[in-house]
Amino acid sequence: MTVVWTVHAVATKGGALQRKPMPTRSLFVTQLYEADLGDQPLLDELAHSIEALARDDEAGRSWSRAHRYAGYTSYASLNDLPKRDPAFSDLAKVLQRHAVAFARELGWDVKPKLDSLWANLLKSGGHHSGHIHPQSMISGTLYVEAPKGSGATRFEDPRLPLMMAAPSRGDTFVTVEPRPGLLLLWESWLRHEVLPGTGKGERLSISFNFA
Ligand SMILES: [Fe+2]
Repeated sequence: MTVVWTVHAVATKGGALQRKPMPTRSLFVTQLYEADLGDQPLLDELAHSIEALARDDEAGRSWSRAHRYAGYTSYASLNDLPKRDPAFSDLAKVLQRHAVAFARELGWDVKPKLDSLWANLLKSGGHHSGHIHPQSMISGTLYVEAPKGSGATRFEDPRLPLMMAAPSRGDTFVTVEPRPGLLLLWESWLRHEVLPGTGKGERLSISFNFA
């Protein structure tokens, strides 16, 4: 492990400030993987597919209604999107490469395998409250379309439930604004939520788990 010494200023006898290394190091750092897909034609195809699913997947539409999802999600209705649709199949290959790179960065000696993948169309004002993805290793989201005012994704410090009498810190929550083509990966235990959007457009995204 690389030890990164931080530096702080201390006053010397003469009152001048001198920079000295701070005797601390960071433990158990939480990594967030952020990459740009850089493939607009694929994003266009995915957007087209998500809109078609939101129109035609009756089971998904009913599930979304029953669970008060503000829009449409294929989360509970379709578990084989990469087999059904070439755009999702292409995406699965791209995601695999990113997940392998992230796993390497995390120091894992296992190859993550795409376990589930679902499409989301979230209407204006829609949100998704805080949750984790149990039984998975890596989870993530690709923003396909994110019109102005689309809900941001907010990550929570995993120490929050353990903080006891710890004073509040400025970085307990970290918010990432969505933009088309932005791919986020994180370890599946990291709690996150989608904040309510304030815009008028529909936010299209694809979420997934690696096991
Ligand atoms: Fe999630």
